[in-house]
Amino acid sequence: MGRGDVAPSVQALRLTSCYQIVIEGIVSDLTDGSAEVWSNRFEQGLNPVIERFNASIGFDIALLQEDLDGSIAHARMLGNCGVISAEEMTQIERGLETIRAEAASGAFQPDIADEDIHFAVERRLIALLGPVGKKLHTGRSRNDQVGTDLRLWLRRRIDELDQQLLQFQQALLGKAESHRQTLIPGYTHLQRAQPLCLAHHLLAYVEMLQRDRDRLVDVRGRVNISPLGAAALAGTSVPIDRKQTASTLDFQAVYANSLDAVSDRDFAVEFTAAAALVMAHLSRLAEEVIFWASEEFAFVRLTDRCATGSSLMPQKKNPDVPELVRGKCGRVFGHLQGLLTMIKGLPLAYNKDFQEDKEALFDVVRTTCDCVEAMTILIEEGLEFCPKRLSSAVESDFSNATDVADYLVAKGVPFREAYQLVGSVVKHCLEQGILLRDLSPQQWQAFHPAIEQDLLKALEPQQVVAARISEGGTGFVRVEEQLIQWRSQLG
Ligand code: ARG
Repeated sequence: MGRGDVAPSVQALRLTSCYQIVIEGIVSDLTDGSAEVWSNRFEQGLNPVIERFNASIGFDIALLQEDLDGSIAHARMLGNCGVISAEEMTQIERGLETIRAEAASGAFQPDIADEDIHFAVERRLIALLGPVGKKLHTGRSRNDQVGTDLRLWLRRRIDELDQQLLQFQQALLGKAESHRQTLIPGYTHLQRAQPLCLAHHLLAYVEMLQRDRDRLVDVRGRVNISPLGAAALAGTSVPIDRKQTASTLDFQAVYANSLDAVSDRDFAVEFTAAAALVMAHLSRLAEEVIFWASEEFAFVRLTDRCATGSSLMPQKKNPDVPELVRGKCGRVFGHLQGLLTMIKGLPLAYNKDFQEDKEALFDVVRTTCDCVEAMTILIEEGLEFCPKRLSSAVESDFSNATDVADYLVAKGVPFREAYQLVGSVVKHCLEQGILLRDLSPQQWQAFHPAIEQDLLKALEPQQVVAARISEGGTGFVRVEEQLIQWRSQLG
């Protein structure tokens, strides 16, 4: 780019990924459309502060690819319907592809004067093609255009997020497969409850993530409906074919009502709600990893790949990754609230308030994807379970107390009676500072004559876990079934 092409006083915005933008100090004047945007009704330009306040190009440049895709579909349809000539249709499509190439090379750098990505593209097209470029916007408004772009963008991001969630499930499954026989204390109220097979614990997250993925499929269905051709709010008198643009863009249907088409942002709320649950699930695991890694638990060791040190205390190893994941939930939950508040009370149809949907949605996608990716790496290479520490943990508590009750139940003692009895056994042991396994056969007999020698075997943690073979339970045979089922489902 030569020096003559730049206007150093204006800040340009550069897209560095599908949702990240950096501000640079220079801008090209490629779009060169000194505010020929509005109709001749306008005599004065915008106050510069208001121009900046109004502009969305700083973030909606992320929609560039989708804006080009949508415009190409629209131009083809206009050509096929005879609204523009075949020659014009080809010229417009080539012009739009030129803009795509310019964006790839970094030459397309719209600025604040372009207001938003839709104007930026249109103005560049007009600069490239002249009068033919002015035909693109026939039978369409920015209102249906922006809705189309955002849906196309979100549809792609949903597919990417789904892939990342799949990889996360695979990472958890891999860990679970290598811990088929490892035990871990199970908790309720964060109090030791009953020992578990570690694979069973990890598979619980695989289940949650599957629900997250199912929810995304469901949301995707409602994202995948075309508003294009609803025009500003009322449809158009131009003989367009909405089904044609919808099918070119792979939408499964078109909105039946033009007002609803341009003013529906339910899909943004729904997606954010689905992402909020993903984040909630990640943060539950994050919280567990944080306390597992503490010296008090020491169930896992953080590897150097995913842990950080302290600037002051040389002995420290900090679980920054799960802490950040836990902390980032606030953003996504906040955006859900923000989006709901944004649409609440809006009269039909389009209102500029909708411009606020983008930064929220972009941040939701970036935050959620980043967190899923980071947690996947954490599981794959960031932590190692400490089997010795885990087995000594499950051996030194009363988490086998229920099994004494179950033993008595098998001998015909009613459960509530057995439950009360084991309560007094535990009380006795606590007073003596001993565990259940430390009681002699005579002591057991004194508590209940039905108790025989074989109880001791039933109280061993491996046996306690192995015995829980009800459907969905932590018994090794049940967990094995689950591991096989997930492996065949996830590949
Ligand atoms: N930048 C706008 C948005 O994000 C595009 C639509 C503008 N339409 C309008 N009538 N002002 O929603």
